[in-house]
Amino acid sequence: MKMWELLLSCLLLSQAGAKPVDENKEVNDCNYTAELLKEKLDRPYLLSTDYNTNTIYFSYTVPSKTDEGVENFTSAYIYLNTKEYGTINNVQDGFAQSVDQKSGDVYIGGSDGIYKYDHNTKNAELLGAKDTDIWMIYFKEVLYYSVFPSQFLYTLVDGTSTRFSDLEDTKVDHMVIDNENDIFFTNETGLFSQKKGTKNAVFFANNISVRALTTDMNGKPYICLNNGVYSINKKEIKLDLVFETVDAFGLTFDSENNFVCSDDTSIYRIKADKHKCNDGPFLLQSVNLGTN
Ligand SMILES: *[C@@H]1O[C@H](CO)[C@@H](O)[C@H](O)[C@H]1NC(C)=O
Ligand SMILES: *[C@@H]1O[C@H](CO)[C@@H](O)[C@H](O)[C@H]1NC(C)=O
Ligand SMILES: *[C@@H]1O[C@H](CO)[C@@H](O)[C@H](O)[C@H]1NC(C)=O
Ligand SMILES: *[C@@H]1O[C@H](CO)[C@@H](O)[C@H](O)[C@H]1NC(C)=O
Repeated sequence: MKMWELLLSCLLLSQAGAKPVDENKEVNDCNYTAELLKEKLDRPYLLSTDYNTNTIYFSYTVPSKTDEGVENFTSAYIYLNTKEYGTINNVQDGFAQSVDQKSGDVYIGGSDGIYKYDHNTKNAELLGAKDTDIWMIYFKEVLYYSVFPSQFLYTLVDGTSTRFSDLEDTKVDHMVIDNENDIFFTNETGLFSQKKGTKNAVFFANNISVRALTTDMNGKPYICLNNGVYSINKKEIKLDLVFETVDAFGLTFDSENNFVCSDDTSIYRIKADKHKCNDGPFLLQSVNLGTN
């Protein structure tokens, strides 16, 4: 059982009394809309997009059917073109999602291993890391995953699991690889980058409450903290605020490269007016993702 206490161990005071989404707000000469995609979910987390089909995958918390007080997880999807929503029921405790953009293969990590999911047949089959509780997964050329509770990072190639040597000296909470083969990862200390194939970690930030680490369609890295979405500025080794949020839980992009962001109950697509905001990075402020 993965505990939210551990997940959110460095959670700062959560902000109460958030306002609902401002449907159409003008900030910095740039209009944006926050489109509600799905509500009434319990902490939608680990969002990932299949750009080929414009489908987002994520997981959320469900109460255990058998053990009172125990939390389980389920993987789910929203096919953005039609808003079709469904849960993926044949993965036990589906928690982590990632997509191979070249093949369109979808991988899901549950509490007893890693599954490969077929969007057409809606069937999932156990692929590897059998009997292992999976913490996170990430696909780029190969499948990376970390296990619970050690948080050590492995690769899974042809059914064989191997410790990933670049990051063998640290636990890994979130990780992503950008378009220049820079690995970004977070651990208890903070956010670091490391050129793939080296062991030279560059320190970016600490004292942050990390919810998601991802790239956009072009491979540009972003980090989602509880209080906002930031682009990772590699030149100046800092984080640039893109928009503020209240208690964000996840971040991904749709196949038009719009932000898709979740808070503790809902998933939104954040659309900026392309005509006014095409010089990016556009700065949106106080997108109050609606809470309760
Ligand atoms: C729910 O979580 C418990 C504790 O981790 C686990 O033993 C059980 O198999 C999970 N149930 C489902 C349906 O995934
Ligand atoms: C933003 O939208 C409002 C209402 O539709 C409009 O009046 C305003 O001109 C727009 N601003 C920009 C910068 O596009
Ligand atoms: C996090 O990673 C950095 C860089 O590899 C390392 O120096 C640090 O000790 C790690 N922190 C923990 C808590 O493992
Ligand atoms: C950590 O961040 C919080 C809120 O941003 C701030 O109040 C606090 O001083 C920071 N602590 C350290 C050790 O930097």
